[in-house]
Amino acid sequence: MTSIDARDVPADETSQERLAGRGLDYRAVAADGDDFLPFYRAVSRGFLDGEPNEEREGSAPRSYAERAARMIGVYERDAAPGAWPVGTVTSWVSRLTLPGPAGAEAPLPDIDMWAISGVTVAATHRRRGIARAMLEGELRSAAAAGLAVAGLTVTESTIYGRYGFGMAVPVERLRVETKRAGWIGPDADVRLEFVERARLAETIGELHERVRRHRAGNVSGFSLRWARIAGTDPGNDAGTRTRGVIARDAAGAVRGALAFTISDGDDHTKHSLAIHHLVAETPEVRAALWRFALEYDLVGTVTADLQPVDDPLPWLVADPRAVARTVFDHGWLRILDVARVLTARGYAADADVVVRVRDDLGIADGAWRLGIAGGVAEVTPASGEAGIELGVSELSSVIVGGVPLRALAAAGRVTGEANAIAALDVALRADRAPHLSLWY
Ligand SMILES: CC(C)(COP(=O)(O)OP(=O)(O)OC[C@H]1O[C@@H](n2cnc3c(N)ncnc32)[C@H](O)[C@@H]1OP(=O)(O)O)[C@@H](O)C(=O)NCCC(=O)NCCS
Repeated sequence: MTSIDARDVPADETSQERLAGRGLDYRAVAADGDDFLPFYRAVSRGFLDGEPNEEREGSAPRSYAERAARMIGVYERDAAPGAWPVGTVTSWVSRLTLPGPAGAEAPLPDIDMWAISGVTVAATHRRRGIARAMLEGELRSAAAAGLAVAGLTVTESTIYGRYGFGMAVPVERLRVETKRAGWIGPDADVRLEFVERARLAETIGELHERVRRHRAGNVSGFSLRWARIAGTDPGNDAGTRTRGVIARDAAGAVRGALAFTISDGDDHTKHSLAIHHLVAETPEVRAALWRFALEYDLVGTVTADLQPVDDPLPWLVADPRAVARTVFDHGWLRILDVARVLTARGYAADADVVVRVRDDLGIADGAWRLGIAGGVAEVTPASGEAGIELGVSELSSVIVGGVPLRALAAAGRVTGEANAIAALDVALRADRAPHLSLWY
């Protein structure tokens, strides 16, 4: 559990001064204050959504409070009371799972992470440096509060590299032609049952907390996320279309859940089943949930987002080409304290290397010697020649083992001695493909 409440972390003075010089106020917004609703409406507009309805607005403060989320708004200095902010950002302290030593059983180690969300700038104020001031402010605040890493999920992959974030956890989007796939997987002793949506949300939340320490890259969840997945979030009129099943193992214990919607096409035998969330504690349960979706009567296509890149589905069907797979960047990380993060994770092999890290913001700049033995790293400040040189964005990309160091070296984004890069590449690998199963 985390001991830091993001709401106690003050707004960054450097960003405050920079924006003040442009006639803008940069300040905290309280979930129970008058500024909250304008802030919430501005976030909705920023993400191109409609105006939130009353029910949604009424329940929103609870969700921010549950996460102990800090909200920062940027306002025109001369704006009337109650004016909407022209910039918004939200952050809270979550937990990020890290790789363990080779062969380690779950639970894997985890670490506090500054989760950043709700980054919007009004279309009337775009490209004037407001987002830059907000993002840099988040990173300086988080580092000052003692966080070693920040993370986010993104609308566009072009935005955050400049602040030192690196794409770290790729995921797959799957699209299955069910009539062509043909199930050849196991006929597992797993019992499925439909459940009410409220129970679905609760079960997914509980299962997530149990599975998130099994793979590096995942983070702790929150009630609103599970409610949105199950269609029970207040004010969601389309939520009634969501269906859910839970999966029990042979002993009757709940070990998995699936949330989905089905939509009609012109041909009633070719409906589309969209998986909102699939969580399973065992391979047998995962297979049973896939089978349930693929064999659903009147369904011709199954889609699922945010699946792990090593998902077994192509090996569970007779025609693997019935499963179209698209890999994309999902989890972005930003190291703030190099030594702490490198010490907190486990390693797959021994290595002894000196790494020099460049950080334009100066937060993670420096050189460290990594002495890795028996899956554990001793990390000490170093001087002199470095075997490996890279930016903080590149180090953040490889830190949970979801991106190979050698791929970045091949792209010219990591430089140094080939032997040192090869040794660290192997040491950084994660036992299983890292996975981030939610948006935040
Ligand atoms: C993305 C967004 C927050 C940027 O806000 P902004 O105030 O216009 O950004 P800034 O003026 O501070 O730009 C900072 C830098 O990012 C670049 N940038 C901004 N938006 C970008 C984008 N969408 N793609 C690529 N680069 C972008 C700018 O060119 C600038 O580059 P530089 O400082 O390195 O020269 C804003 O366009 C927005 O609200 N978009 C819709 C909501 C959204 O997608 N939010 C992100 C959620 S993950």
